[in-house]
Amino acid sequence: MPDIFENLCVTAASGLEAVVKRELIKQGFEPGGASYGRIPFKGGLTDAARLNMTLRTANRVYLDLTSCKAETFDDVYDAIRALPFSDFIPHDAKIIVNASSHRSKLFALSALQKVAKRAVADAMGGTLPETGETYRFTADVSDDVLNFMMDTSGDALHKRGYRKMVGEAPLSETLAAALLLLTGYRGGVLIDPFCGSGTIPVEAALIATNTAPGLKRTFAFENYPVFDGKITRELREELTAKIADVKPDIAGYDVNPSAVSMAEAHLKAAGLSGKVHFQVRPVSELSSRFKSGHVVTNPPYGIRLGDGEELKKIYAELAAGKKRLPGFTFGIISAYPGLERALGKADKRRKLYNAEIETTFYSYFPKIRN
Ligand SMILES: C[S@@+](CC[C@H](N)C(=O)[O-])C[C@H]1O[C@@H](n2cnc3c(N)ncnc32)[C@H](O)[C@@H]1O
Repeated sequence: MPDIFENLCVTAASGLEAVVKRELIKQGFEPGGASYGRIPFKGGLTDAARLNMTLRTANRVYLDLTSCKAETFDDVYDAIRALPFSDFIPHDAKIIVNASSHRSKLFALSALQKVAKRAVADAMGGTLPETGETYRFTADVSDDVLNFMMDTSGDALHKRGYRKMVGEAPLSETLAAALLLLTGYRGGVLIDPFCGSGTIPVEAALIATNTAPGLKRTFAFENYPVFDGKITRELREELTAKIADVKPDIAGYDVNPSAVSMAEAHLKAAGLSGKVHFQVRPVSELSSRFKSGHVVTNPPYGIRLGDGEELKKIYAELAAGKKRLPGFTFGIISAYPGLERALGKADKRRKLYNAEIETTFYSYFPKIRN
């Protein structure tokens, strides 16, 4: 494996950096401070392979190939031109370079992109045929420091492979997993009374059964000639052996029958049939035979679904259901301004983005201890 593969960087959506860092720490890594959604740490390509398959809340995993001060395009060119690309990518590689910049003298992204790509081509001997596999790089200049990174994920990590159909206003899989982890869900009783296409219950079932979220998809690193396919096979075997045969008490409800059928299909595609009880049921009937557990949910909030009076009624019904479940922890993501008027003051609030929409994630802790 090339010596320069010793630094990794994962990206996280705004507001989720701390959850991603906790996942990394749990796996024994020592993440540095997050800046501009990037979390750097020490690690190699085999670590990247494991992280792609196991991280529930990150966007992508990158190999950070070089990091240096960059105030001119010459600084960028020289740093990238010095990298031994021919040691780890084939001559026919199709090179795609994305660029980003934050608070830096270099802010012209298309120029940054061009210079970086020219430097890769020159390092590999000049004009490239670009007829082979795609290799994606990111040239990021933040606070006048260049990080030139190679993507190991391919499709972003929210694409687990189980969501075949698109419901109304679905949550991304990584955000759904983050909401569950932020609510303290690690397995056991969970209810999503507005389950839509089932993202929260399916992610809960993945967590409860200790199933690695990336087991059913492929990643960019699998095409790298320097990466030994045996490692991926062994990793998949190891992670498959760790799946727990438990029957968690997870329920997903929705008033829309077609949303419920979609949720069932997604559960099946995730290989988790039978692990969630999906049912057509309005939130007015929210109840549980259990005294404690978690309710994590994404109700309609008016921007993409529902209107004024209807929303008021839905939140009043959710509030009544919450009163019937005093031993439950609630986590609710919404942009409905009247939420706390209906449900009472939250114990905790976090600002999160759901597909560009600014939302708040409200946490309510149990009012009775069991
Ligand atoms: C924002 S979507 C949930 C999306 C879901 N998290 C996903 O990833 O697909 C809100 C859902 O609430 C459902 N809904 C609306 N009114 C409802 C009610 N009174 N009771 C239960 N579900 C309702 C809608 O059918 C919709 O699927």
